[in-house]
Amino acid sequence: MNTFEEINVKGFVDEYIDPTLDLFSEIEKLKKEKNAVILAHYYQDADIQDIADYIGDSLGLSQQAAKTDADIIVFAGVHFMAETAKILSPNKKVLLPDLKAGCSLADSCPPHLFKKFKEQYPDHLVITYVNCTAELKAMSDIVCTSSNAVGIVESLPKDQKIIFGPDKNLGAYVAKKTGRDLVLWNGACMVHEIFSREKITKLKERYPNAKLLAHPECEEVILQLADYVGSTTGILNYATKSPVKEFIVATESGILHQMQRENPDKTFIPAPPNNNCACNDCPHMKRNTLEKLYLCLKNGYPEITVPQDIIEKAVKPIERMLEISKQLGL
Ligand code: 13P
Ligand code: SF4
Repeated sequence: MNTFEEINVKGFVDEYIDPTLDLFSEIEKLKKEKNAVILAHYYQDADIQDIADYIGDSLGLSQQAAKTDADIIVFAGVHFMAETAKILSPNKKVLLPDLKAGCSLADSCPPHLFKKFKEQYPDHLVITYVNCTAELKAMSDIVCTSSNAVGIVESLPKDQKIIFGPDKNLGAYVAKKTGRDLVLWNGACMVHEIFSREKITKLKERYPNAKLLAHPECEEVILQLADYVGSTTGILNYATKSPVKEFIVATESGILHQMQRENPDKTFIPAPPNNNCACNDCPHMKRNTLEKLYLCLKNGYPEITVPQDIIEKAVKPIERMLEISKQLGL
């Protein structure tokens, strides 16, 4: 058995697993035994998506975390997502298969620096993208996700001054869509910043009927080319409803699994990045594996903890987001 010290170093339980074990049926058994639910983001490995009880974008996952009656939430996603689940369901045990599954965007906004930034704009309301630490959420007035950011800003009076962080690309997109002048924090996601406009343009020439679907964490030069901009759920729904058969997808590659599963007759082409690597994988999301998920459910850790004072402050802007989303029909 591993010690907690070992888990702190490695971030996950590292235990021998009999390779003949059917992890899918073992996980199903453990889930029933422990009254656990598995919530997974679209950027997770295909195996994890296939065993999950719910797969969704950040808003959908938060809504599920707030309403589940399970005793244990196994969060197959990254740290800030599991933290959000814990803040919304503080009495439940929230497990993350690999504690080191972080986020470059959340890391781009250290709370002590954001505090100073915020102090420069005392009359501004603070809207933070959910991809940030619990501490940052505790300093915010409203949290948002990529599927409700535009709606949340539009729900506020036109003369309301707003700081938006940490994603400058999503912030610039929201500013453009709403015509508001937002004060932006200079953060970004390492996965969405690497798409090449030049290579996408060439790909569009090769597939003239293909629609470009992009996540708003992409840079503006990519969004300008897009036929649709939206959250992971938005991208999936757009592709499913569209009569078009070919799509270039500018977001993390994990989403392609559901897109292909729901649309076996359609072709999905990952948007090419600037570097020579052909994949658009998020190294943080991909730290979780089926093996780590099985072990965390079996052992009951690694567990997410959030200090009580942070929970009390951070829950308000998250609940405000959920309320506005409800009013917007999201
Ligand atoms: P959504 O699933 O909310 O679109 O977010 C994407 C993302 O970057 C998650 O880390
Ligand atoms: Fe963070 Fe980007 Fe990975 Fe999403 S894709 S978890 S924003 S690093």
